[in-house]
Amino acid sequence: MCGIVGAVSAKDSTPFLLKGLATLEYRGYDSAGLALLTSDGVSGLQRARSKGRVAELATLVKQQTFSGNIGIAHTRWATHGVPAERNAHPHISGKLALVHNGIIENYESLREQLQGLGYVFTSDTDTETIVHLIQACFKGLIGEPAENLFSAVQCAVVHLKGAFALAVISEEEPDCLVVAREGSPLMLGVAEDGYYAASDASALLSVTKRMMYLENGDVARLSRDAVLVVDGIGQMVERAIVTSSLNANAVELGDYSHYMQKEIFEQPQALSNTLEMISGAGQLQPGIFGAEAAEIFQQVDSVLILACGTSSYAGMTAKYWIEQVAGIPCNVEIASEYRYRQSVPNPDQLVVVISQSGETADTLAALHHAKVQGHNCTLAICNVPESAIMRETALRFITRAGPEIGVASTKAFTTQLSALFLLTLLLAKVKQRLSAEDEKVYLDELRHLPIAVDKVLALEPSIEKWAQHFSNKQHALFLGRGRHYPIALEGALKLKEITYIHAEAYPAGELKHGPLALVDSEMPVVVVAPNDEMLEKLKANMQEVSARGGQLYVFADGGSAMKPTEGVNVQLMPEHYGLLSPVLHVVALQLLSYHVALVKGTDVDKPRNLAKSVTVE
Ligand code: G6P
Repeated sequence: MCGIVGAVSAKDSTPFLLKGLATLEYRGYDSAGLALLTSDGVSGLQRARSKGRVAELATLVKQQTFSGNIGIAHTRWATHGVPAERNAHPHISGKLALVHNGIIENYESLREQLQGLGYVFTSDTDTETIVHLIQACFKGLIGEPAENLFSAVQCAVVHLKGAFALAVISEEEPDCLVVAREGSPLMLGVAEDGYYAASDASALLSVTKRMMYLENGDVARLSRDAVLVVDGIGQMVERAIVTSSLNANAVELGDYSHYMQKEIFEQPQALSNTLEMISGAGQLQPGIFGAEAAEIFQQVDSVLILACGTSSYAGMTAKYWIEQVAGIPCNVEIASEYRYRQSVPNPDQLVVVISQSGETADTLAALHHAKVQGHNCTLAICNVPESAIMRETALRFITRAGPEIGVASTKAFTTQLSALFLLTLLLAKVKQRLSAEDEKVYLDELRHLPIAVDKVLALEPSIEKWAQHFSNKQHALFLGRGRHYPIALEGALKLKEITYIHAEAYPAGELKHGPLALVDSEMPVVVVAPNDEMLEKLKANMQEVSARGGQLYVFADGGSAMKPTEGVNVQLMPEHYGLLSPVLHVVALQLLSYHVALVKGTDVDKPRNLAKSVTVE
């Protein structure tokens, strides 16, 4: 989703701003822009905006020979107003220029008020309201006249409802950049030659690893050699400088064609890293989820998992594990539903939020909602250690997948599954449902998982052959049963996200209750069919498809005794993997979608209309 970068530097900020925007491209966007000022104030405000890629903006900037020590830049993912140059950020009011992430919920009433004061709007965005509002505060048309840009921003943010991270510069103060945040992420980079700001730590790595995370309500003034931060009640505060553990190389594409491909193939390593703490362990310790984990796991009588997208399918898989192995009830809810639903809170329930980014607005709001309802036993499973979600729960587990850039989640999902399996085992252990023998068996299986995934990756050439069969289809059906039903859902999600083929997943037993009506010779039906307790039932469901001329693409494994026949394509997985088999099967489905996308020539890493981190509702 939208991304922000900003800089106050001794040198020309333009290269940093453009590189920062390129780093943020993965989040998803449809237009980009920047504004610059020179610290001598001579060249005034320079602005360039373009609908389309950052590369186009870079060409524009080069043609116009823009430069400046102070600058702000933005990638926009359209919410209010179509993708168009006039709606791209920065937005200008007089001598001010501003970029913004988030959504201003009261923008309509503010817009009316500001129009009443004579401000003329040139865009359809909620953002333009903010820049005029700051101008109005500056001039004293709203409140007392502000002394400077910093106090004008402090005055303006009080009137904003919703979520925002913003950065603003003024031609009249060509020595500073003012930023503010509420709800949306924003961090500062502390470097030798100046101060930087970004909505995502990865965008700062080209200049520094030293970062300062702003809190909700903070407003900060950045100048060449100082930063001043005030909190939501106007008090001066110090925010700690931390050294980011992110590695700039980790966000490079290297020899791969796409980030999604790189991330699929990084899964064995990502799993090894995530499971490192059990590499030599004879038994599991609850402490891997946090100091209070033993006590909290003892107290809880059930689990509620809240998440969005792929992360919610990780949760759905875990429901099967938790209920079967730990023997306690587990429910999974889509965060955007839970946050507005009247549920029945149970303080002895463990609330687990799962998020790759740790920034997803609905997941964060669902966590807040759960806490307000009296849920104190909270756990975050997240891939970004510095994210908001990680700071807001009693317990936490960091998946160590490394930065995930492809919009379609892959390695984050499999590492989430590994974390959730650890959670399952620990809950079972605390509830005395796990024998020492079983614990050892499961730990061994987890330790072997990276090797097992590696073997699935070796199937790529034969999975690739199937891709041709999907590329001219309009629809596809995915079937699974039991703990592989969420894997069918995830397989269908991958296909629709990156190939734009309409794909639906069903628990195979539901076929007769509707989707069978869709099946004909034009309908590819992908089946997740390991040799587990549901296989015989699943085979009967496959017969139903074959009898209607449907084309089956079956991911089976050794013991399932499935052979290819007319209309039935079979891919045997290298080994049967019991409870952890969802982890292997999803990797095969990722490869299938990836290769269908290659045949179709779609934008694998940045599918249309989608964003990586959904920081607005
Ligand atoms: C977006 C991404 C998905 C992701 C979902 C939840 O839709 O494109 O890949 O699964 O957000 O994101 P989270 O960061 O909370 O896991």
